[in-house]
Amino acid sequence: MKRVLVAMTALAGVTVWQAPAASASVPLKDITDRYVGSAVAASYLANEPDYRAVLTREFDNVTPENEMKWGTVEPVRGQFDWSGADAIVRYAQEHHKTVRGHTLVWHSQLPDWVAALPAGELRRVLRDHVMTEVKRYKGKVRAWDVVNEIFNEDGTRRDTVFRQKLGDGFVADVFRWAHAADPAATLYINDYNIEGINPKSDAVYDLVKTLRREGVPIGGVGIQAHLSIQYGFPAEYRENLARLTKLGVDVAITEADVRIPTPPDAAKLDTQASYFGRLWDGCMAFRRCVEFTTWGFTDRHSWVPGVFPGEGAACLFDENLHPKPAYFRINP
Ligand code: G3I
Repeated sequence: MKRVLVAMTALAGVTVWQAPAASASVPLKDITDRYVGSAVAASYLANEPDYRAVLTREFDNVTPENEMKWGTVEPVRGQFDWSGADAIVRYAQEHHKTVRGHTLVWHSQLPDWVAALPAGELRRVLRDHVMTEVKRYKGKVRAWDVVNEIFNEDGTRRDTVFRQKLGDGFVADVFRWAHAADPAATLYINDYNIEGINPKSDAVYDLVKTLRREGVPIGGVGIQAHLSIQYGFPAEYRENLARLTKLGVDVAITEADVRIPTPPDAAKLDTQASYFGRLWDGCMAFRRCVEFTTWGFTDRHSWVPGVFPGEGAACLFDENLHPKPAYFRINP
């Protein structure tokens, strides 16, 4: 449920935080009835008051960027570290924000000890992992990215250690385990390059249809939406949202960013703004597009430059936390 704008100015004569002069008067989270989120890192939340203030003002969902991944929570068998995830969930509760859990089963950031397990043991360990994590945050995580990036670009299944050892059926299993651990959480399949209609999004569509028919408790499709202005806006985005929502599931934009060749200039920022705007407008056009989450909100912290050298500036706010043209395209 959405809340009304709370003005933050001065408390007992001390300025808590003031929006940058150019910021819109109504925060993003208050211009729609959908959840508006950002990926966050526990360390920035703890150490950067300005980061925390903008997050608190503008968003009402948080997705831990790395803190809930298997490699973070159990890097060594039996040695758990929930500190980052706990801190983010605590922040969310204190500030009345929802949490998107990210992610239970992913081939990346997977500890070596998991990958090395024989099939029978892997199945038990996978079930324990899923159920332990979901139970820990039962009632505190609104939606989970249960499986992440299980398809190749051509629509075939990615050949992960889970598929090799457990077969494709592991996907239905993990949804059932997660549902048993928290029946109220909405359970998603999540992937990138599935914004438009293409072989990969066809495969996601077909799988969701099959799983629903079989009674597997899948409740949503997460569309990551890592875009680049170099490759054009995804074709048939709205047609894809239409067919997915017709399956009776929710859709969420889960990791939106729009990277540009650096350095940014006015024309590039304009194109970026139009991409963000089209992503946003498309989501708002469908009642069952329930969430619009960006993968970080400030160019100060973004995964993009490290992975795509020569590209960056992919977020709605610049390094100094000033809203960019893309922000004002969404929230004029
Ligand atoms: O925390 C360690 C630190 O202790 C160590 O010194 C350092 C040395 O490399 O690594 C740190 O971990 C890094 C972690 O981010 C936290 O900063 C990992 O190396 C790095 O690989 C990891 O990258 C994350 C990436 O997923 C992992 O593949 C990115 O931050 C994160 O934004 C990115 O997020 C993914 C989504 O989960 C799924 N969709 C795509 C998206 C972008 O790649």
